[in-house]
Amino acid sequence: MEARDLSDGNRIPLLGLGVWQVPDGPECVNAVKWALELGYRHIDTAQAYGNEEAVGEGLRASGVPRDEVFITTKFFPRQRRDPAEEAKRSLERLGVDQVDLYIIHWPEGGPTWAWPGMEQARELGYARSIGVSNFDVDELEALLAEAATPPVVNQVQFSPFEHRTALLEACERHGIALEAYSPLGTGRHLGDETVAEIAQRLGRTPAHVLLRWCVQREIPVIPKSTHRERIEENGQLFDFELSDDDLARLDGLDRTGGTGVATEHQWWS
Ligand code: A2P
Repeated sequence: MEARDLSDGNRIPLLGLGVWQVPDGPECVNAVKWALELGYRHIDTAQAYGNEEAVGEGLRASGVPRDEVFITTKFFPRQRRDPAEEAKRSLERLGVDQVDLYIIHWPEGGPTWAWPGMEQARELGYARSIGVSNFDVDELEALLAEAATPPVVNQVQFSPFEHRTALLEACERHGIALEAYSPLGTGRHLGDETVAEIAQRLGRTPAHVLLRWCVQREIPVIPKSTHRERIEENGQLFDFELSDDDLARLDGLDRTGGTGVATEHQWWS
């Protein structure tokens, strides 16, 4: 599985399974187990998803050794609890000693207050790497000005339609890996004509085109599916390439105007 170096020396596999909106229970257990059986080595969950226990169960059911899998969970900031304490609770639910990546789910209450607790979670060994999600350029820079240990990831909604070039450039400038969630536009982008035309010409699927657009630029990507055949399809990204022309055509689909904003809708405020 192809991976990318993070600025703290750890490595993140470019392809992961996302489990947003998958209920805790057999559906989530199976999705995680299938993904790992099919060669995924990266699972992305969150405290807010309420399915960490099923993720842990799927991991154990797969038989894949814990140290071969990159696990991300996210700190739920709403109640302003202590991020380190909440990380410990996540570990208990997941049934693991450590997560690979622990990120602030969104910057509710401001971009800096939770960071000392995130750093503590890392110092205590609860997380190997720490980062953020849904942070704009301004929020990243406010955090960087105060952080002793800088964030290594900013996970945002990202696809050819949400290209956010100013945010991507700021992340690269600061040594932060931008990670793409909702890379299929929660399914909406799969029906786009340009995407379909490129897919047809290459003998691939629209999902392949959208996901390859990310991984070819070393952007880790976490498509969500609970269907075995789709999880398998989404994993087949490393045996073909998009040409520079096709990459440029896909870049042209951006609807954000190259924004530095992480999300058009701040659902937390
Ligand atoms: P399902 O979970 O029923 O398979 P995103 O990753 O952008 O959030 O998109 C996830 C959505 O896209 C889910 O509704 C998922 O449905 C659907 N999906 C995921 N992979 C594929 C695929 N290869 N083909 C069609 N739909 C897919």
